[in-house]
Amino acid sequence: MNILVTGGAGYIGSHMVRMLALSGHHVVVLDSMEFGHTQAIPSSVVFLHGGVGDKTIIDDIFTKEKIDAVIHFAGYISVEESVRDPKKYFHNNLISPITLLEAMVAHHVDKLIFSSTAAVYGNPTEVPIPEDHPKDPTSPYGLSKWCFELYLSLFDRQKDIRSISLRYFNASGASLDGKFGEAHAPETHIIPLGIRAAVENKQFFLFGDDYPTRDGSCVRDYIHVEDLCTAHVLALEALAHGHGSDIYNVGTGIGITNKEVIEQIKEETGIDFPIAIKERRAGDPAELIADPTKIKQEFGWTPKYSDIKTIVKTAWKWHQTHPNGYAD
Ligand SMILES: NC(=O)c1ccc[n+]([C@@H]2O[C@H](COP(=O)([O-])OP(=O)(O)OC[C@H]3O[C@@H](n4cnc5c(N)ncnc54)[C@H](O)[C@@H]3O)[C@@H](O)[C@H]2O)c1
Repeated sequence: MNILVTGGAGYIGSHMVRMLALSGHHVVVLDSMEFGHTQAIPSSVVFLHGGVGDKTIIDDIFTKEKIDAVIHFAGYISVEESVRDPKKYFHNNLISPITLLEAMVAHHVDKLIFSSTAAVYGNPTEVPIPEDHPKDPTSPYGLSKWCFELYLSLFDRQKDIRSISLRYFNASGASLDGKFGEAHAPETHIIPLGIRAAVENKQFFLFGDDYPTRDGSCVRDYIHVEDLCTAHVLALEALAHGHGSDIYNVGTGIGITNKEVIEQIKEETGIDFPIAIKERRAGDPAELIADPTKIKQEFGWTPKYSDIKTIVKTAWKWHQTHPNGYAD
């Protein structure tokens, strides 16, 4: 297939691009490079520097590359920043990609996979969280993603664009060979921050240890980035075989506490580092755990690398070979 991957120079997108290219697909990456890394784009793929809201560049891609399907990763990802600057998130995560959808209609491209998030659920009333759990996002980030899901259902009904929205829980880990990994700037995710605390022998700030969980710290569902990409491949194949629009959680169904993640980092790196307990962060739910029954049953998706040991091992391997991220 000829596949356009927006945000393909970012963390998850770059792993996806490599997986697709290795399977023989023709891959076109569109990335604004605000947070992307040139070194994360394989030389075998076509790369275009630009935004998903740029109609000229998108029209050009659809005309020249004969795109069959789009995987849409591009977007801003910071919950905290979205609270400070909601308009920025609505513009980039909702308004700009509508230009992409309109161009898909104009060029008769009818298949899209969307990077949605567990943040659409807000504070869950039920854990593990099924897809039909009420949507009540606590941040403009989560709201922007949920609104885009709703736009997708509208574009399905009115414009025949079929889409699969994948609600990721905590994407984590690095490629098994250590060549690709997580390099966000600023970094907000616990595993790279924990590894940084270990190698720089700095305090790790743990936000809240008085949650009603087994050790008082927050519980999250970690999904290895390679398993997450496999879910996209299965979703793409389903759309190619005529599957209708739908929404799936992508998580393991297993909850790991923040303290357990930190212990695993200490064990894997062999480095002890101090932990400073800070106040809970506003809007951080105690537990976010997926109910992944639907994607497992319908697509036969099975996570292979999403145990916390493998996740931390691969993240540590990536860090050791790339101590400065993609700057090396
Ligand atoms: N990382 C996670 O745990 C997680 C969880 C849930 C959902 N998601 C979603 O997955 C997607 C990818 O996340 P990530 O962690 O790889 O983030 P990332 O920041 O590493 O990658 C996003 C990429 O999109 C690009 N981009 C941003 N706005 C753009 C635009 N308007 N046009 C073109 N390119 C643009 C950035 O330059 C970056 O390369 C995001 O949409 C995010 O909301 C991520």
